[in-house]
Amino acid sequence: MHAWLNGSLLPDPHGPAITVSDHGMTVGDGVFEAVKVVDGVPFALTRHLARLAFSARGLGLPDLPDAEVRRGVDAVLAQEHLPLGRLRITYTGGVAPLGSGRGDNPPTLVVVADVLAPSAPTTNVVTVPWPRNERGALAGLKTTSYAENVVALAHARERGATEALFANTAGHLCEGTGSNVFYVVDGELRTPTLASGCLAGISRALLLEWHGAREVDEPVEVLADAEEIFLVSTTRDVQAVTRCDGRALEVGPVTEGCRKLWAEREPQDLDP
Ligand SMILES: Cc1ncc(COP(=O)(O)O)c(C=O)c1O
Repeated sequence: MHAWLNGSLLPDPHGPAITVSDHGMTVGDGVFEAVKVVDGVPFALTRHLARLAFSARGLGLPDLPDAEVRRGVDAVLAQEHLPLGRLRITYTGGVAPLGSGRGDNPPTLVVVADVLAPSAPTTNVVTVPWPRNERGALAGLKTTSYAENVVALAHARERGATEALFANTAGHLCEGTGSNVFYVVDGELRTPTLASGCLAGISRALLLEWHGAREVDEPVEVLADAEEIFLVSTTRDVQAVTRCDGRALEVGPVTEGCRKLWAEREPQDLDP
């Protein structure tokens, strides 16, 4: 692992570095991105930085210093060739008072690069009893306030799954803790709209461009009738679901087609 903090590489990426009163640490006042690295090159970096800037604006953080972030990315990737890796870019409110109010200090910017294990081709998911709030102040933003996801994922793991699927407050299917969901009904590929409160996933957007799917909001119970279900995300690519809430599913032709399409298109769309 290699880490860069506020303009400098850290001599020890595991050593102490962030101030204890950093607002990202104390109250989750920060935004982040996870970017896949393929053969040393970040995948879809421009899209990720655009979403990071959007999330930062949503929290009212100062404008994201795009060139500075790219310098950090270059610095960590220059330390080690990663055949398959993950960048984590974090931008927080910086050093602040211990309450929710933000201080006057500059933001904190961190870039970390690490190896990424290839994702399994298939997985199990469960729906969770807690809703995503599609009307909340943080809806659609990728913030470091991820403890709800931590709780939901722990719930899923206790049930033998690797992802938890949320409905929103309207009872409509929304997303996973770190993935978007696609499903097939009557042969039609569908995914929740962005109005569901899901994150505007980069993988979701790319699959919609490359393959197409109907964006629609419908009750989460639709999963019980789906012929196929798959997840998409930076770390999972297209991952077939073979068990949802205990119901076994086949890896169907639509999922297989999307998986093949992803494998073909990803190398063409690397974006340094
Ligand atoms: C809540 C949430 N939804 C969806 C996704 C998938 O987004 P992406 O395809 O950009 O990785 C993520 C990614 O981490 C996420 O955290």
